[in-house]
Amino acid sequence: MQHRGAWKSRWTFMLATAGSAIGLGNIWKLPYMIGVNGGSAFVLVFIACILFVGIPLMMTEILLGRRAQKNPLNGMAKLAHEAKASPHWQWLGGMGMVTGLLILGFYSVIGGWVLSYIVEAARGVFTDVSGAQSAANFDELLASPFTLFFWHTMFMVMTMGVVARGVNSGLEKANNILIPALFAILLVLLGYSMSVGDMVASYQFMFSLDFSKITPVAVLSALGHAFFSLSLGMGSVMVYGSYLQRNVSIARMTIYIALADTMLGLLVGLAIYSLVFANHLAPSAGPGLIFQTLPIAFGHMPWGSLIGTLFFMLVAFAAWTSAISLVEPAIAWIVENKEMKRTTAAWAIGLAVWLLGIAVLLSFNAWKEVKIIFGLNIFEVLDKLTSTILLPLGGLLMAIFAGYLMKKTHSQEELGLSHRAYKTWRLTNNVIAPIAIVCVFLYLFGWVK
Ligand code: PFF
Repeated sequence: MQHRGAWKSRWTFMLATAGSAIGLGNIWKLPYMIGVNGGSAFVLVFIACILFVGIPLMMTEILLGRRAQKNPLNGMAKLAHEAKASPHWQWLGGMGMVTGLLILGFYSVIGGWVLSYIVEAARGVFTDVSGAQSAANFDELLASPFTLFFWHTMFMVMTMGVVARGVNSGLEKANNILIPALFAILLVLLGYSMSVGDMVASYQFMFSLDFSKITPVAVLSALGHAFFSLSLGMGSVMVYGSYLQRNVSIARMTIYIALADTMLGLLVGLAIYSLVFANHLAPSAGPGLIFQTLPIAFGHMPWGSLIGTLFFMLVAFAAWTSAISLVEPAIAWIVENKEMKRTTAAWAIGLAVWLLGIAVLLSFNAWKEVKIIFGLNIFEVLDKLTSTILLPLGGLLMAIFAGYLMKKTHSQEELGLSHRAYKTWRLTNNVIAPIAIVCVFLYLFGWVK
């Protein structure tokens, strides 16, 4: 067994966990999901899900990780033993590892799109581009399996290269500069969208309070996305929590991370929809949304090629730090249990995910019409299966374990909250979040119409 790493300070833990949370989910996925699910109705439910489900469950996941001090599978086994619960709870950790790898299968393909856009921006391809041209450029990328293959491979090599080197020598230092830089460049983009785009329409689209538009599907997607965006329900946050020192306040860390994560996603959304409306594009364009709209902004602003290149570099960085956290649970498990070196484990797992990614990238062209189940292609199946089922299920089980099986004194000890704050956490963790998740599942499986 190898020596476990540990964070140097609470600041590095926060940045690494924020690095896991902030990624393609905020910049690529949230904006298009808002458009596909009817705008403000989705935003409202999403914010409610972050507050009442995401934040309490993030605290839960960190507390489980810190108490266990192990990878999710062995960690759950240890906690179950301590709580005198069934050893089968370890499979919750096992499920999380698999979920992470399934997510990485498509995450890496989208990460590849971002990498290719760095080069496009630097080559000046966006200069003076029109809405129609920008959409055509993106379609051309999707139609070319070889280009997608090349960039997906690059993204996987970048990710596994860092994972192979371990927690302490990874990206923590770069995180310190690059996440604030991403915020800064986003403000530039927002300023530009405000001056030339239709910010009023964007604001109304995202924030007008119209409860009548809330549909069950919007609720389902918003809940799933709250998990995806905060990296919850699969053990990433648990592993990071397991490297966290005892004296750090879990609640405070969680609130900072959730705030930064949610704000970033909503700011990107505002900037994008402002451009969408000003250029008469469709808000419901789906997964290609940012790749079709942002080039228009970069193509027309002063220094656009430079700013665009920087922007896509920062997005790639954000995606990279998230991708690393997607494999960390599985790697931590192998390193702590098998006689295998971290490097070997990283490349072996990388190979499997890389193969899965090839199937995903083909589902944007050659295999687009190959429907696996319920009329969904490979990419759609992986996306829906992980976000709307596996992550919320993982979160639900963690909440039940921490709330009903773990000794109260243990959770209280880890959280170190005042009596009132602890009771609030318990109410959300034990009652509100589980009910919300179960209702969504009942709807999903068609028991409640
Ligand atoms: N939170 C990441 C994002 O928003 O891009 C995605 C992710 C990372 C999901 C790690 C789940 C996870 F465990």
